[in-house]
Amino acid sequence: MPIPSGFSDYQMHDVMENAMATRRFDWGCYVYPASWAWLRDWRKYNRTKKVYDCDPYAEVYQVRENMYAIFTENLNGGGDMWQYLIIGPQRAMLVDTGFGLGNYKALCDTITGGMELIVVNTHYGIDHALGDCWFERIYGHERLAPLLRAQDEHIWDGLFDKSGHHLCVEYDRSALPVFKPFEVIGVPDGYTWDLGPGYEIELIFTGGHTDHHAIYLDKHNRTLLCGDMICSSMTNCASILPRISRGEDPAFTNFPYFRERLAYIISRGNEFDNIFPGHYIMDVDKAVLTDELRAVDAIIANPDAYDFKQDTIGRNGQPRTIRYKNITNFGVITY
Ligand SMILES: [Fe+2]
Repeated sequence: MPIPSGFSDYQMHDVMENAMATRRFDWGCYVYPASWAWLRDWRKYNRTKKVYDCDPYAEVYQVRENMYAIFTENLNGGGDMWQYLIIGPQRAMLVDTGFGLGNYKALCDTITGGMELIVVNTHYGIDHALGDCWFERIYGHERLAPLLRAQDEHIWDGLFDKSGHHLCVEYDRSALPVFKPFEVIGVPDGYTWDLGPGYEIELIFTGGHTDHHAIYLDKHNRTLLCGDMICSSMTNCASILPRISRGEDPAFTNFPYFRERLAYIISRGNEFDNIFPGHYIMDVDKAVLTDELRAVDAIIANPDAYDFKQDTIGRNGQPRTIRYKNITNFGVITY
């Protein structure tokens, strides 16, 4: 089995019709060819694509009558991200805030026409929650809340090397937000928001990718906005050792726990049709969750039965072995 590493010249230099004010010059992680090709075609040919003057660091696509997918580049070299904006009858909801580059609040207000906005996070990945400080109040699972309350003006420090140079993506540094404290409200599994009469969105706790990861079920659109729970490139959906070293509680990140939550989500499949991950291919049939469950089951049965592995050096300089288990037709789980 070939080990993924590096990029072809074509992957590196094709510009993907970038309409934003960021310019990628390197990749910090492998992007599966199918995901890369999907993203290139989506960005080149989707006719709903818009870049707003108030925030030139985001491409906005309409994916449902009342739902927008906001694409931003990953300033840290990981996979580029999707954030999702849903416009309900009376209120709107934003799921994740990316790195916050550009005037993210103005962008949301422009799209919604200034509606009341509920902002939620799937988890505290720096590619999902560094734009939170644009807003006065952020919601998320109660295990996420303490992490968001610890944010400060240094949260963007890791985006530059020791010489102060950008990692992987060039942009005007003054476009990063000026940090300001915000209110954080932690909610339990099953908490539901009301965007107007009959329009409900429910938080479902997943654990796995982090010990505080949650996803959002839009019951009106029958969609699941699922953060990093699954991704068409590499899904780091559950792991033990790396998470412990980051201070996370392994009771919520291990494979058996994640398996339990994933099976629960699949059992509610009569409530949704398509999933919208936080990276790469989106608007995907829910069947891929069953494919993911099969891969998780295979890992639990025998963690050494990976499809391939890669010996590498982590960003901390320490040697690291990454194991890869294929999710049928939808990337791999890394662990
Ligand atoms: Fe992510």
